Order: sequence, then structure tokens, then C-alpha cells
Amino acid sequence: MVSRRIVILQIIIRKSSIMKTLRLLFIFLSVPLFAQQGGMWIPSLLEGMNESEMTNLGMKMTAKDIYDVNNASLKDAVPHFNGGCTSEVISNQGLLLTNHHCGYSQIQSHSSLENDYLEDGFWAMNLKEELPNPGVTATFIVKIEDVTTKIMDGITAAMSEAEKQKKIEQNIANVTQTSPKEAYQENRVRTFYEGNQYMLFVVETYKDIRLVGAPPSSIGKFGSDTDNWIWPRHTGDFSLFRIYADKNNRPAEYSKDNVPFTPKHFLPISLDGVAENDFTLVFGFPGTTDEYLPSIAIEQVINTINPARIAIRDAALAIQDKYMRADPQIKIQYASKFARIANYWKKWRGETLGLTKSNAVGIKKQQETALTSEINKKGKQQEYGQILPQFEKHYTEIEPYSLAREYYVETVLRNVELLRIAYQTYQLKQAYENRGAQSFEDRRNNLIERAESHYKDYSKQVDEEVFEALIALYVKNVQPQFLPDFFKNLNAQSLTNSVYKKSAFVDFASLKNLLEGDAETVMAKLNNDPGFQVVSDMADAYNEKVAPKYEELKLSISGLERDYMKALLELSPKDARIFPNANSTLRVTYGKVAGYSPADAVYYEPVTHLEGVMQKYIPGDYEFDVPQKLIDLYKAKDYGQYGENGKMPINFIGTNHTTGGNSGSPAIDAYGNLIGLNFDRVWEGTMSDYYYDPALSRNIMVDIRYVLFIMDKYAGATNLIKELKLVHPKKEIGKSKKKKKKK
Ligand code: ARG
Ligand code: ASP
Repeated sequence: MVSRRIVILQIIIRKSSIMKTLRLLFIFLSVPLFAQQGGMWIPSLLEGMNESEMTNLGMKMTAKDIYDVNNASLKDAVPHFNGGCTSEVISNQGLLLTNHHCGYSQIQSHSSLENDYLEDGFWAMNLKEELPNPGVTATFIVKIEDVTTKIMDGITAAMSEAEKQKKIEQNIANVTQTSPKEAYQENRVRTFYEGNQYMLFVVETYKDIRLVGAPPSSIGKFGSDTDNWIWPRHTGDFSLFRIYADKNNRPAEYSKDNVPFTPKHFLPISLDGVAENDFTLVFGFPGTTDEYLPSIAIEQVINTINPARIAIRDAALAIQDKYMRADPQIKIQYASKFARIANYWKKWRGETLGLTKSNAVGIKKQQETALTSEINKKGKQQEYGQILPQFEKHYTEIEPYSLAREYYVETVLRNVELLRIAYQTYQLKQAYENRGAQSFEDRRNNLIERAESHYKDYSKQVDEEVFEALIALYVKNVQPQFLPDFFKNLNAQSLTNSVYKKSAFVDFASLKNLLEGDAETVMAKLNNDPGFQVVSDMADAYNEKVAPKYEELKLSISGLERDYMKALLELSPKDARIFPNANSTLRVTYGKVAGYSPADAVYYEPVTHLEGVMQKYIPGDYEFDVPQKLIDLYKAKDYGQYGENGKMPINFIGTNHTTGGNSGSPAIDAYGNLIGLNFDRVWEGTMSDYYYDPALSRNIMVDIRYVLFIMDKYAGATNLIKELKLVHPKKEIGKSKKKKKKK
């Protein structure tokens, strides 16, 4: 509706060339209107604009029901899961729901050939059967407070960027140390709006998190990589954990004496399902977004950065895939690694397509022109007039360094396993040189431990081929002035041969042997190892020829981003919806259940059903197999209280603005009940980290009724169902309306 109005107005305006300036101004002002949906908002600041928007969309709660410092509110049921995903408490005994892909490595770590929980699923039938996961955490937000004035104290315009940054870091350390909190809590300060706002978070981290249940991968990961980032989707992407606390309900390390945690709030679960246009709110911990980059930065993502990342991963994945298909042992060893690399490889491809198709660069350029005329109109040239030209200059300058950095990160730190492990010994050497023998000792054992679990899933053959392919790409595509000297006339094949023949990094026993002895002995052995030599030459070259200039330009760019943000906040209309970029802090995003049109004449409905699982079913396939029991339930239409009109809903989509980290986030209805579990986004909308397009960007959620159906009918985990609070908000409303009518 709104966007149609804008289009009509724009046509009228376009007719008159005299009105050019007016039109630019109009585009600038209309940005917030376009963005009626989208945005990841700070939960403590919802009152006002967000609350009224949410009410307009159908919400029946108040902002205080979502976030309240003094009373239990929704936020008390939504912990950060292990620092990377989101989860929600769904019973008064600390039962925790998150995605299957968020609990994947825990499920895997308890699996063996005899008890393959990834393959068959896992269900604890009582508390005693729940499995501990050392290191896994659930972090609750106790309080959020604006500390901008304290952090900005002592910052003056005359300071250089580096001086400002140093002073800000001191202030952050100070506020973190001195702000009041309980002994078992922690203070964290985070920046918002690119350094224009600072918030203090008081948090509580629970450390005894036990695995309670997981469906088999043929449900929890149905469709696997082929369906990843794709709608229509049919995945039961959930797993269950439980938070344990000490006898005072406080965080504690694992102990058999710990007891199930009693939450301040847990989410009731609605059995009434979703319909198109229903209000939805997604509450979670989105990781990173960059919604306010200048057009030139987006152009670089499209033309330079993403193509490089994709090409590198194309090469690595093709090799892994070839071996995984040929060898069942390698298939298991590389399943999780392959999924991780393929996940963003696929996302970047979708992102580039989406940025292009939505004309993100063109739209950003129009916004920039409009901002410039607004700056001129308000006489703010002195303060803001140089930002856009400076962006242009700095991004042009940083481009080759950014490209070299991508190659370095993707090759050394992500895709070649030998280099990744060898890099840790490079850090070990640095620790020894900079901080002495104690620091060396502290790190060595850690490294050996990590290496041991790494080599369980290591294939020298696969890695060797990846090494050769990626080194060849490195030599070909990284500008010569950034390469280590010996790379300049390098034959990738002969380097690969000598490294994989002689290096100690090709198996655990040799590496362990290499790391034995006092620091000096280990250093001597390292310096003689051909794998170590490659990594240290690559790292030295990067640290000398790329990093200093890259960091310097990056610092200037972040100063520009802060000023650009300030200009946007100051010069945009009062009702503009300018939301802060994601930074792994708790956020609220809201919208409606809605389908979308990915192409001319094509429309995607917002809800999928079990019928679709059966349509995709390929017996025996590693991505699209379906367990027999699920087929039986489908044939019998045995959906219990979870089905709707004889059908079992699986997934649904909405206009909530989410990103990586939102996985496992609760989808909440107008009343505060759980209706779904966020786990992905649609292919055409994956550019939403840079540009959220309300027409194309959709988040994908598991319908909570599918989760319950699997727990109850498929797994027989009625012990867990009994813990839940199941409600019928829509039916209740229906009833009370009828009652009123009778009166
Ligand atoms: N794309 C989703 C996210 O970014 C799901 C990833 C897990 N699934 C997979 N097939 N790799 O995390
Ligand atoms: N799948 C993502 C996650 O794991 C969510 C997303 O990127 O939409 O957080």
C-alpha cells in the first residue's frame, strides 16, 4: 500500500524536470517509508515509534511486556546460545529450544557408530538421561542501560581517530569495571550506530547446559545444503537442551548436584498456528549487518569481495565433495566442515544476486545524492560535506588491500586445514617471542588438545588437493606486491608435494612430537618444518605488506561511518526508522507472516506442509531421505492436536529482519506466545545484511506445531510435552467475543 503510494507520487514528480531537487529530497525522505518493515531494534527502547508500529501490525502486548527491568518480561526467556545462536526457555524447569544446526556439534560429540544421534536422533526420557556439554553456555540479559555520555567523556573534536579510539577504550574499561552488578553477573559495553551510542549490558551466563532431545538429521537437517537458504522449505531445524543451576538458581559449572533452572519467564506455546498477515516478533541475537555502507562499498562487495570468496570456496568445496561422494568415511569426517563452508559460500552467491536484482547500488546512490542536497540546504557542508567524497577516496584505496585480506583469511584461516593448524603454531611462536616461556606453556597444551580432535576428522588426501588448488589461486589472484617473495615464481604443485611429504602437520602423532620439548627446541623444530615455513612466510607477508595499510584505512573508514551515521540521524525526518546495525546484542524485529514474488508470474505461499516433505522425498538420499515412522504418520494423518485441517504445517516465512545469530530465535505471536523457531532466510532476500528489501527479504521459521508433533508423535517424548504450557490464544479470543455478543 505504502510503496504503491510512493510509486504514484514519484511518477508525478518525475514529469517535471524543474522539480529535480525536490525529487531527490523526496527519495531521501521516503526511504523510511519504504522501510516500513525491517530493522533490528534495541529492546529497551521500543516505547514510542516501534510500539505503535507493532500495535498497528496487530500486536496486543506493550513494550514493557517485551522488555522490563523490574518485572519478568519476554527478554527473560531468551538467552544467547553459546555466543552464536539464540534460544528460548519453554518450561519452568529450564527446558531450552534452539535449532538443530545450533546444537549440531553437541549432538555430534555425543554420537558414535553404535549411538549415532545425528543419524537417529536423541531423546532423554528423564532428567538422568540428559547429556552434559562442557563449555556450552546460555547468557541472559538482565539489564540494558545507555552509557553514551560516560563513554564519550573527554572526547574532543581536535583528537585524531586513534586518540579518540584509545580514550573510548579506556572509558569502556572503566564503565565495565565500576558499574554495579552482582558477583555472578558480568558487565559488557557495546557500541551502536557506529560509535554514536553506547549501551551497557548486565548479563548472567549459565554453564551447565545439557542435551535433551534432537530429531534425526533427516528431519532436523532435511534438504541439507541443496535446500539451505531456499524457500519453499521443509526442515524441522530444532533441538532441545536444559539449563541447570546451583541450589540458589545461580549459574554454576557442571555438577551432578545442579538442578533444573527456574526461569523468571518462559514462553507459553500457541497451538493456534499462523495465517498470512499475522503479527510476528522475532527476539534474538543477530550477529553483524552493514546497512549503512556507501554505494561504493556495496559495489566492491558485488564486484570484488564476494566473487573472490566464492571462487576460493568453489575450489575447496568441489574437492571435498568429490572425496565425500567416493568415500563414506570421508563423508562423515567432512560433513560438518563442508556444511559450514558451503553455508556462506551459498549465502554470498544469493547476496550478490539480491544486491544486483534489488538495485541496491542505484538506490544507495540516490540516497547519497539526496543526503548531499540536504547537507547543502541545511548549511552543514563544513561538518558533513566531505564524508561521501572521503568514502570514495578511502574505499578506492582500500580495495586491493581488502582483496588481499580476503585471500589470506579464506586460504590460511578457513579452508586449508594444514595452514589453519600451522597458523596456531605461528601464534604460539609469537606468544613465546612477545610474552615468554610461560605464555608458550599455557598455549601449547591447549593447541595439542584442539589438534587431537581436529585430526580425528582429517584427511591428508583431501587437504593436500585443497592446498594445491588454493595456493595456485593465491599466486594467480593476489597482487604480486602483497605476496611472500618465494611465491613470485612458485610452482604450486611442487610446493604441495614437498609440504605434504615432509611437514609434521599432516597427522596428529607427528605434530604432537613436533610440539614436545622446551620452547627453544620446539621453535627450532618449527622453523625447519616446510608447512610452518609456508604459513609463516604468508603471515609475515600479510602482516608487513597488507595489514598496516588495511588497518589504517579501516580506522579512517570507521570514523567516516560514525560521522555518516550522525548525519543520517540528524538530517533524516523525525519519524525516520534508522535502526542500529546488528552487533550480537539482543534485538527485536517484527513484521507479518507474508509470502513473496521471486519472479514474474511466480508467487510463494508463506506456509509449507508435510505434503511437501513427501514430494521432495528421495529414498536413501543423504539430503532428502525421510524416516519410515514419519511416512507412516503422514499416511495415517496422525497429527494429533498439532495438525490443521488435516495437514501438518512445517515452515513459514515472514517479513522479520534477521541475520546470522538469529538462528534459534523465538517467533512470537501478538500475545507473547511461541509460534515458531527462526532458522534461515530466503534466497532472493539474502542481501538483507546490506540492504533489506521488504518485497523480497523473508525469514524462515519452523512452525512450533511441527516441533511438538515430532517430539510427541514421532519421538514419544511425552515427558517433555507435559512440561510445556500449551495455549489457544486465537480460540480464546473467539470465545470471549461470542460471549460478549450473547450479552
Ligand atoms: N543458512 C542457515 C544459517 O545461516 C542454516 C545453516 C545450517 N544448515 C545447513 N544446511 N548448513 O545458519
Ligand atoms: N541460519 C542463520 C543462523 O544460523 C540465520 C540467518 O542467517 O538467517 O543464525
